[in-house]
Amino acid sequence: MYLRNCWYVAAWNYEIEADTLLARTIINEPLVFFRKEDGTVAALQDRCCHRSAPLSIGRKEGDAVRCMYHGLKFDSSGKCVEIPGQDAIPPQACVRSFPVTERYSWVWVWMGDPALADENLIPPAVAHDDPNWIFRSGSIEYAANYQLVNDNLLDFSHLTFLHPNSFGVGSDWAHIRPKVTRLERGVRVERWLPNQPIPNHIRGVTDCELLDLWSHYDYLVPGVMVMYSSSYPQGTLDKFNGGAPTGIQPITSDVTCQAITPCGDEQSRYFFSWAPNVHAQAGCSDELADGMIAIARMAFEEDRLMIESQAHNLKMAPNAKQVAIAFDNALSQMRWVLDKLIKEEAQPQLNSASVVA
Ligand code: FES
Ligand SMILES: [Fe+2]
Repeated sequence: MYLRNCWYVAAWNYEIEADTLLARTIINEPLVFFRKEDGTVAALQDRCCHRSAPLSIGRKEGDAVRCMYHGLKFDSSGKCVEIPGQDAIPPQACVRSFPVTERYSWVWVWMGDPALADENLIPPAVAHDDPNWIFRSGSIEYAANYQLVNDNLLDFSHLTFLHPNSFGVGSDWAHIRPKVTRLERGVRVERWLPNQPIPNHIRGVTDCELLDLWSHYDYLVPGVMVMYSSSYPQGTLDKFNGGAPTGIQPITSDVTCQAITPCGDEQSRYFFSWAPNVHAQAGCSDELADGMIAIARMAFEEDRLMIESQAHNLKMAPNAKQVAIAFDNALSQMRWVLDKLIKEEAQPQLNSASVVA
């Protein structure tokens, strides 16, 4: 079961160039993305209405795509506009089109009822061209259900055990629990960690031996996380009584934007960026940004190995006993929110939203 009436991240905007036909499967639906002549992106079902050939291995012709099996041509609304060898085009000769938009350097696609596609539901993030940050980004595929990746990003106690070589954080990540607040479409996670060793990604940028670390993020359906992290001199946590630091320049500051998109039940695509802030005390550089994303890539490979192994075990024993622990709080709440929205979508009388299967 998937939430359909929501915006899924389909691609980084740079993945769709002027002549690209990009194939992406999202919630088991094969899609093809391409840019029209005016630069805007269109999304069509990647399955020709003639004999089901993928349009993504077809040919882009202006604002249209031609299936390169028998030559049917479809405009960006999915309407067939040419059938070689015949003049009449039956009205049912069409493929489904999907609402699509670009924001925050991502291409977003709405998989549900097009009439309900509300751009206000796009979770806030930060675009690569924001001058306050130096962004690097990428994506990887997981052979695992997206909920397992959501779970991973909602419990950073695993940083201590899974990422000692990459992120190199202290053991407090597995001992000091964050504040978790349920939101209408997700959860908010906030955390101070005082007196921390310098994590690998900012090693060498400060003379301090220990730092107070503050991080906070909203995790919103269907799986979008924007986390801000900053570091301060020891004692800063006490100064703010454990609340959010305001009016003080951090030693370092960074933001990461991440999105998990379900491809199918056992396949997910993970989009990630990471960017140091140019206004932090310790400064900011391309080298710092390059070093950070290299560390992130290493860490996400560590995650991938663990999550895919976990997925394999769950496939072998789907009903195996799973004992809850305190650090499951945020991920349990996120699963609850997502389940609730999926149920509401399936029962339109509970919610005015209608669903297109
Ligand atoms: S399958 Fe597309 S034209 Fe025949
Ligand atoms: Fe991780």
